[in-house]
Order: sequence, then C-alpha cells, then structure tokens
Amino acid sequence: DRTILILDIFAKHAKSREGVLQVELAQLKYGMSRLAGQGAELSRQGAGGSGFNMRGPGEKKLETDRRRIRRRIFELGEELKQIEKQRALRRSRREKNAIPTAALVGYTNAGKSTLLNALSNAEALAEDKLFATLDPVVRQIKLPGGGDALLSDTVGFINKLPHDLVDAFSSTLEEARNADLILHVIDSSSPYCEKQKQVTEAVLAELGAADIPRINVYNKADKLIERPDGKNGDVLISALTGDGIEALLCAMEEKLCGSLKRITLTIPYSRYDAVSFVRGEGRILSEEHTEDGAVITALLDEAASMRLERMLDSRD
Ligand code: GTP
Repeated sequence: DRTILILDIFAKHAKSREGVLQVELAQLKYGMSRLAGQGAELSRQGAGGSGFNMRGPGEKKLETDRRRIRRRIFELGEELKQIEKQRALRRSRREKNAIPTAALVGYTNAGKSTLLNALSNAEALAEDKLFATLDPVVRQIKLPGGGDALLSDTVGFINKLPHDLVDAFSSTLEEARNADLILHVIDSSSPYCEKQKQVTEAVLAELGAADIPRINVYNKADKLIERPDGKNGDVLISALTGDGIEALLCAMEEKLCGSLKRITLTIPYSRYDAVSFVRGEGRILSEEHTEDGAVITALLDEAASMRLERMLDSRD
C-alpha cells in the first residue's frame, strides 16, 4: 500500500514534535478509513451468520477501537492547532521585523537541506534518503549587500503525493505559500529532472504559490558532464562544492530587494487605507505615530509607489 509506505518513511524522519504528531495523525486517519471498510465487511458476515445477533463480538471490538482512534485523532488535532498558533505568532513577528523570506522547495532528494547549509553555513540534516526533511527549518542568512533574509526548508515533493498527505504536511508547505521568494531546487543530474520539475510546479500551483517570484536553482552541477545554458534567471550551482552559491545569493538579493526603493512619508490618520496599501504592496520597515499621522518608512517597487502617490494626491 503506497500510502502506508510513504507514511512509514515519513515516520522515520519526523524530527520535531509537530512532525511526529502530523505523521501519527495521518496514519490514524488512514487506518480509520480502512477500519470503515472492515466494518462493512463484518456487518455483512454477522447478518448472514446467526440471523439474530446482528452485532458480533468482532464488531464490538471494532467499535471500541474506532472510538479510541477518534479520541486520539481529536487530541492530536488540538495539539497541532496549538503549534500552528505559535507558528502564526512567530510568522507575524517575522513580518513585523520586515525580514524578507525565501523558501526552498523541490522534489525529494534534490538537495534542499544541503543548499540550506551551504547558504547559512550551518548543519541541517542532509541525507541521501527520501524525505529527510519533514519539519520546517528556518535560518537567517546574509545577503551580499549586507541585508538579512530568512530561508526555510520544506518537505520534498514527490509524484502523486496522496492528498491526505499534502494536508498533513501543509504546515511546512505554508512556509512556501507565505514566502517572498521561492527557490525551486532541481536535481539537474537526474534523468527525470524535467518531470520532477513539472511535479513541483504543479504542487506549487495547487498550493496557490504559482505567482510568488521564483528562481530555478539547478543543483548538482558537479555531476554534469556538459554545462547547460542557463535560461533567464536560472542559476546553476553545486550545493556540495559551493560552486555558484555567490551567484545565487546575488540573484536572491536582486529578486528580494532589487526593484524596491525606500520611501519615507507621513500618512494622515484620515488616510489609513494608504497604510494598508503599503503593507499589502511592500514591506514596512518602521512605523511611528505622530500628531500629523503615521510616519512610515517602507520598501516599495516603482509601480506601487506611483500608485500610492496618486492615491494620496487624489484624496487631498
Ligand atoms: P528531502 O529532505 O528528501 O526533500 O531531500 P533534500 O532535497 O533536502 O536533499 P538533501 O540535501 O538531503 O540531499 C540529497 C542528497 O543529494 C545527499 O546525498 C546530498 O549529499 C546530495 N547532494 C546535494 N547537493 C548536491 C550537489 O550539489 N552535488 C552532488 N553530487 N550531490 C548533492
């Protein structure tokens, strides 16, 4: 059974409390759906057997099992909700700090954890196994221009990942949905490189992350005999040897901060909609409240700052 197999692999690799709980929840939910099938089977046997007693001992045990599992599913769900709440809190704190975030996504074994280490000079578990990464790991990194960025690792994608499992790991995928930039790591040495790339792109689209700026990072360049031509904005690297890492950092900086300009302006309190606009379109670096209104320093791209100007002019 493919789902059980995948869940077993997940269970072996879960590291954090959240990862462990998510795997257990997915296993129980899946077990429950199989118990339901068995129940129908037993009812049929009971009815055909004695003719009187519709509920055989087997079915009673099943009922108790089911109740126990339902209870555990409920408990796990509650605990996961708590963890999710804390994560949301951490995320909003990050947003307030205005540090741009990039998420590493890619097919399982593409080299995301190795790249996370190469970019942050730290040790995240990198193993030549499927699904070494189940828990969202977030690291702070330095961009060449001196700015900071946060980088998060996500669960590796796989062809036709059962839907229940996508749900189970939505918390790590959430990191991708909320990122300012997606680094799509591709194993360029794999014969299935193109297919794996498409699978990941399909999952990103399903997550609602298709519109987030993206860099295709072709990894494992050291294993290639021929260097392919990089297409517009693609980067070829080896996370293992460090080749191309500087170029990748520059590309990240360009995407995260390149087209943004820093503005400072005072927005009267009667125009608070303009503050919401800045918050939605750009990144607020500081917000101070004075008698005249909110003094905002923010990073905005050209088009948005022009719209903001027009917006403030038109209502004066
Ligand atoms: P999941 O956690 O399963 O999603 O995997 P991952 O994408 O995080 O891959 P990981 O970083 O664990 O790397 C998988 C394997 O590829 C490891 O054996 C790495 O040493 C190897 N690897 C990663 N980057 C490179 C590279 O640039 N060149 C070579 N030759 N091997 C690499």
